[in-house]
Amino acid sequence: MQAYLLHKAGGIENLILSDVDKPKPKANELLIEVKAISINPVDVKIREMPKLLDQVYGTDRPLILGWDIAGVVTAIGDDVTNFKVGDKVFGLVNFPGHGNAYAEYVAAPAEHLVKIPNGTSFAEAAATTLAALTALQVLSPRIKAGDKVLIHAGSGGVGHFAIQIAKDIGAYVISTSSADNKDFVLSLGADEHIDYETQDFEELVSDLDFVLDAIGGDVLEKSLQVTKDGKSIISLPTPQFSDKAKSYAKQHDIDIAFFNVTSNGDDMQTLKEMLEKGTIKPHVFKTFAFTDLAQAHLQVETNRTVGKVVVEV
Ligand SMILES: NC(=O)c1ccc[n+]([C@@H]2O[C@H](COP(=O)([O-])OP(=O)(O)OC[C@H]3O[C@@H](n4cnc5c(N)ncnc54)[C@H](OP(=O)(O)O)[C@@H]3O)[C@@H](O)[C@H]2O)c1
Repeated sequence: MQAYLLHKAGGIENLILSDVDKPKPKANELLIEVKAISINPVDVKIREMPKLLDQVYGTDRPLILGWDIAGVVTAIGDDVTNFKVGDKVFGLVNFPGHGNAYAEYVAAPAEHLVKIPNGTSFAEAAATTLAALTALQVLSPRIKAGDKVLIHAGSGGVGHFAIQIAKDIGAYVISTSSADNKDFVLSLGADEHIDYETQDFEELVSDLDFVLDAIGGDVLEKSLQVTKDGKSIISLPTPQFSDKAKSYAKQHDIDIAFFNVTSNGDDMQTLKEMLEKGTIKPHVFKTFAFTDLAQAHLQVETNRTVGKVVVEV
């Protein structure tokens, strides 16, 4: 089969399409013929940054990047009872860890996958994995109906799911993006839009119950000023907070924390049901051919993706 091998961190030229052996599923795994893969900022960061690559993959080289897949089951491990050959499945595979997703076939734990609902394409299913799980895992235990919630980067992969999930919970949602994506953000159900390029959100909102920060740095510090004492902020980009942010949070009893999404079949089942009910709808911004996967990385690098970028295999 063909897969993208990464021998060392660096530019997109390091993603090398190669012939490799098809994986064999272990007892708890499914072998999936991959039809679509989604690409996330974390894929780009790990591909680019040697330290991060070592942190996630140790000394394993070459490796196959990627975690978000949708495809068809072609073989089943001995212990798997809830899937059959021919099932269409999707999920976030072994995150954080070795997902091996940039390949024509992936062996993945059955417990990370669920069946694709009727009416959802492989591209849409692949799009509803890491980013959607992040939004779900962050929001569902932390917000309730009536909460006033700020979602930064509401037009992005995580943000566009987060707006839809927060609205389903019954929150009042304020979200940032550039003016270009105002209509998109409002179409997802956001109650208010703030253009981060021409407006200062910290002057326009106050008394927030929760902030989902997909940006970090200054945005986190300013978000603290508009969060109610005793409430919380989840930051996605990095676990590093400035001393200023930590001290302000302590004084105001605001819980600021980094959050890392993890593979979880029960949560995938929730997303599947949300797709079926129409509670969430993934937005596939662009699709790329498997041979152009490196171009999909460049698109994600722009930081201007609306919804998700998908590679069709
Ligand atoms: N820790 C975790 O588990 C976890 C999970 C998922 C993601 N993340 C991290 O979370 C971040 C966001 O991920 P993502 O997949 O949502 O990224 P993404 O899809 O690439 O985000 C792109 C979007 O961000 C918007 N944007 C860019 N700068 C902005 C700003 N200053 N204020 C508001 N919006 C801005 C852009 O809107 P415009 O085009 O309108 O500018 C664009 O629509 C990344 O750093 C990612 O690595 C972490």
